[in-house]
Amino acid sequence: MLRLKQVNKDYATPQGPLPILRDVDLELDRGSAVAVTGPSGSGKSTLLYVTGALDPPTSGEVVLDGKNPYLLNDAELSAFRNRAVGFVFQDHLLLPQCTAFENVLVPALAGHSATDAATEARAKTLLDRVGLGSRMGHKPAALSGGERQRCAIARALLFEPVLLLCDEPTGNLDHASATNVADLLFELHVEQKTILITVTHSEELASRFPVRYRLNDQRLALSCPP
Ligand SMILES: Nc1ncnc2c1ncn2[C@@H]1O[C@H](COP(=O)(O)OP(=O)(O)OP(=O)(O)O)[C@@H](O)[C@H]1O
Ligand SMILES: [Mg+2]
Repeated sequence: MLRLKQVNKDYATPQGPLPILRDVDLELDRGSAVAVTGPSGSGKSTLLYVTGALDPPTSGEVVLDGKNPYLLNDAELSAFRNRAVGFVFQDHLLLPQCTAFENVLVPALAGHSATDAATEARAKTLLDRVGLGSRMGHKPAALSGGERQRCAIARALLFEPVLLLCDEPTGNLDHASATNVADLLFELHVEQKTILITVTHSEELASRFPVRYRLNDQRLALSCPP
């Protein structure tokens, strides 16, 4: 499960601390799916970084899978993030020189020079699952926008993370590809029982989530109570 308790986040600026998140409380069980909406600049991406062990809160507590990642040392923190959290961004961030298959294996290379057969088999299964079984040898430039995003989803799920964080995952896609990527995200979320948090400006995507939060004036609040 995931718990954020009284999380505050400021960015340091030359003019002094810039408050972004105030008193954010959130508790999500395994298998829950929530959307986060809010105006541009309201701190949605910041919330994902803090939640996903990428950027520590200024104060407050983040607990994922029974651990506060920010109490770990650097090596433990990277290993924890790599295993427990999957990220999907608006831009796929695939490596242009690597094939789809190699891109999915990138998380397995952190701290290692080679991948093992079981991990490679899982990468293949995931690529099949996202409909790219016949595109494994393609580099990102030879994939469509939707295919690149599906490859990024496969990469995010390589280690069966507890938490899948998506930041505008369909923001760069046409309507048909966006629907297809969203369908896939929900299917995989159900199959793998991840905690799914998706930031989106798309009303259509947000409306598919059972629970929706809105970030406004540094506060996170339920936007349509269950
Ligand atoms: N490293 C940083 N240093 C200082 N200020 C920052 C930093 N990163 C983000 N900000 C500021 O924090 C605020 C929140 O940024 P964030 O990217 O979280 O917003 P967002 O809700 O994701 O916006 P968008 O919908 O446009 O993606 C913005 O005003 C931004 O300018
Ligand atoms: Mg953002």
